[in-house]
Amino acid sequence: MTVSAANPFLAAEAPSDPRLSSVVRLADLERMARERMHPAAFDYVAGGAGDERALGEAELAWRRWRLRPSVLVDVSELSTASSLVGCPSTLPLAIAPMAAHGLAHADGEIASARAAAAAGVPFTLSTMSSRSIEEVAAATPGGTNFFQLYVQRDRVFARGLVERAAAAGYRALVLTVDLPVLGYRERDRRNGWTLDVPLGNFGPAGGRALEARGDPDTTDAGPETNSTDAGSNPAATEPADGYQALGQQRHVGLTWDDLGDIRSWSSMPLVLKGILSASDARRALDVGADAIVVSNHGARQLDELLAPAAALPDVLAAVGGRIETWVDGGIRRGSEIALALALGAHGVLIGRPALWGLAVAGEAGVARVLAILREELEITMALLGAPSVDHLRPDHAVRVEP
Ligand code: FNR
Ligand code: LAC
Repeated sequence: MTVSAANPFLAAEAPSDPRLSSVVRLADLERMARERMHPAAFDYVAGGAGDERALGEAELAWRRWRLRPSVLVDVSELSTASSLVGCPSTLPLAIAPMAAHGLAHADGEIASARAAAAAGVPFTLSTMSSRSIEEVAAATPGGTNFFQLYVQRDRVFARGLVERAAAAGYRALVLTVDLPVLGYRERDRRNGWTLDVPLGNFGPAGGRALEARGDPDTTDAGPETNSTDAGSNPAATEPADGYQALGQQRHVGLTWDDLGDIRSWSSMPLVLKGILSASDARRALDVGADAIVVSNHGARQLDELLAPAAALPDVLAAVGGRIETWVDGGIRRGSEIALALALGAHGVLIGRPALWGLAVAGEAGVARVLAILREELEITMALLGAPSVDHLRPDHAVRVEP
């Protein structure tokens, strides 16, 4: 285990793991990441809600389909190129927003965003990131970054985050809609884990402890509040730790009626992350979302939630191709990306594997994750007779289990 002296949960600078070249599948990296991270930090990343049934189910649900090829198709010119809300990507994927990459590597999001930029895929920065919006933008010239928003009950602060992201060149606003409260996470409770690490977007000095204010829902500043100082980090919004920021500072009363307001804060495309039902997908269309992410938040919120792979067909039917539908959760193989696209998803988000790669070898580790996914996807597309992502059709996927 290599941890930082300043905060025991944070990773210290670590040399690239010489075993990286021997890694042939993403799952190999999880084992290696466990050796390098603080046990409680590893549990935070790995864990899910409750009994963690949904966690295993997310991966299993992808295996309920088989692929059926089209043969004798010329795949000599094969391209995995895609675009997500108008942003070109060399793969039909982006890195999912995940809190505090500093748990995995001292360079935090700087390293992971750089790896994504070098691979030509978008990186999504969490509101709860270790590094700030501006630091990550500055480290990735030419890269494509999306910003994930947790709406804070202090609307001025929330709007400021969005305005900072837009000013720094972020290309999409990913609004997470499945975390009105934090899920019941047993590993974290056993470990006494509160995500007590510096957060780049909170607080002038990297986000350390100031008391949060009182009752979260009675002091909401309201949608009419205007931000006049987009870059400010008012002291009142500095949480004592990450879970406090999520649990007390975030706006619990957020509804569909708020989305018009949030959209007006910037001209970035709006992506709603955390949709699992056809009815919510239709509402997303009604409010003019540019894309949705079928997601159960990595099974971290409610253990009984439907697996994203299982929820995808109904959502796709409701959306009818009118906006991009992305999906995340349990994707560990390039072949599963091909499957998601064959079913009709436009793209996928990759979560935990990126953090495993980061923990093992920093930027090089995340690059390895993306390289493996690329190679697996290319081989799958060639064997399916799909020379481009547009050639992946429903006919390529067959459901084999109820
Ligand atoms: C997350 N996720 C998440 N989602 C989000 O919208 N904002 C966030 O800050 C976080 N933070 C976060 C931290 C960690 C450690 C994990 C593992 C996940 C959820 C994430 O974006 C994504 O939905 C899932 O991780 C996808 O599942 P896989 O790929 O991890 O199986
Ligand atoms: C999580 C939050 C940060 O899942 O989204 O831990």
